[in-house]
Amino acid sequence: MKIFDVYPLFDIEPVKAEGSFIWDQQGTRYLDLYGGHAVISIGHTHPHYIKLLSQQLNQIGFYSNSVKIPLQDELAQKLGTLSGYENYQLFLCNSGAEANENALKLASFHNKRKKIIAFTGSFHGRTSLAVAATNDTKIVAPINENEHIVFLPLNDEAALKQHLTHEVCAVIVEGIQGVGGVHVANASFLQLMRKLCDETGAIMILDEVQSGYGRSGYFFAHQHADIKPDLITIAKGMGNGFPVAGVLISPKFEAKHGMLGTTFGGSYLACAAAIAVLDVIAKEQLLGHTKFIGEYIIQQLNNLPHVKEIRGMGLMIGIELDQACAPIRTKLLKEHQVFTGASSNPNTLRILPALNLHKRDADAFIQALSTVLNNL
Ligand SMILES: Cc1ncc(COP(=O)(O)O)c(C=O)c1O
Repeated sequence: MKIFDVYPLFDIEPVKAEGSFIWDQQGTRYLDLYGGHAVISIGHTHPHYIKLLSQQLNQIGFYSNSVKIPLQDELAQKLGTLSGYENYQLFLCNSGAEANENALKLASFHNKRKKIIAFTGSFHGRTSLAVAATNDTKIVAPINENEHIVFLPLNDEAALKQHLTHEVCAVIVEGIQGVGGVHVANASFLQLMRKLCDETGAIMILDEVQSGYGRSGYFFAHQHADIKPDLITIAKGMGNGFPVAGVLISPKFEAKHGMLGTTFGGSYLACAAAIAVLDVIAKEQLLGHTKFIGEYIIQQLNNLPHVKEIRGMGLMIGIELDQACAPIRTKLLKEHQVFTGASSNPNTLRILPALNLHKRDADAFIQALSTVLNNL
């Protein structure tokens, strides 16, 4: 049997990783500013992460959600404290798409409506409703096409006022659009969305799958706007590579047995991974560090040639170049051993490093990018 070939691959086979570095079979070391697509939050093979996961594996790895799993309560309690959402409830699942699927479902269970507002440039995952709310027709199969979804331009307040009416079930927005090319949802836009949702009974869903868990320098990117959504979805950085995701659910939603469910969600191992990540974010004060190092990188990038615009917050940075970024990413990888990310905008280079990236490693990236751009 062969693997179903859906991913374009770099010709690199990592065999070892530590912090912000990975090594290939030949022993070449690469600086990882991509984090396996924003997943590596506390750095590869962090000792506390290894400790909690291996201890847990030696005790019990899995049982279904039909028994008491106190690690889930510990995770919910620590997540509530660190994120500032103590009074919310947590539903645990396995991937970003699944989290969004459940959030949209919860919204519709709650207000019995069907119409969803999403935004141009959005990416919410590849399952049926999540992909229907994703603004990329290439990945929407005919069976996923859904007449209930309306796409509006991000940050267009007039369009939001016009469309967010009493018919709307939910509005779903990324804290910072990732795949779409690093576009931040403005504070005033999010504040207006909150107000209109309150007035109409629509549910406000923040997709923080990529921008959450400290990546923006806030625990959640939307916190720069000082609003509280009704539902917040999380995944990627939550498990530092272990598949775990969740929905933070405001107290106005009442849980009923059987309304949501999953076999694997909230397993012992998933909880151990997610608790280890929260412990490290708190102990190493990674929110402050992410803000500091992100601002430093943005400031340095401003001095480079061929850079048209820099977008983002914390360590979710989009560098808009005056030309396609693919050849530049290849040079960074082949000539300077630096991994970076791309986006749906061919000119936008995206960096999503571990939140504990050292300043000296940020400097190494800036130096490498400067060399590549100066030699174009
Ligand atoms: C904002 C956002 N939402 C949802 C998803 C889907 O997450 P997953 O691939 O874990 O299903 C992604 C993945 O890139 C994402 O960036």
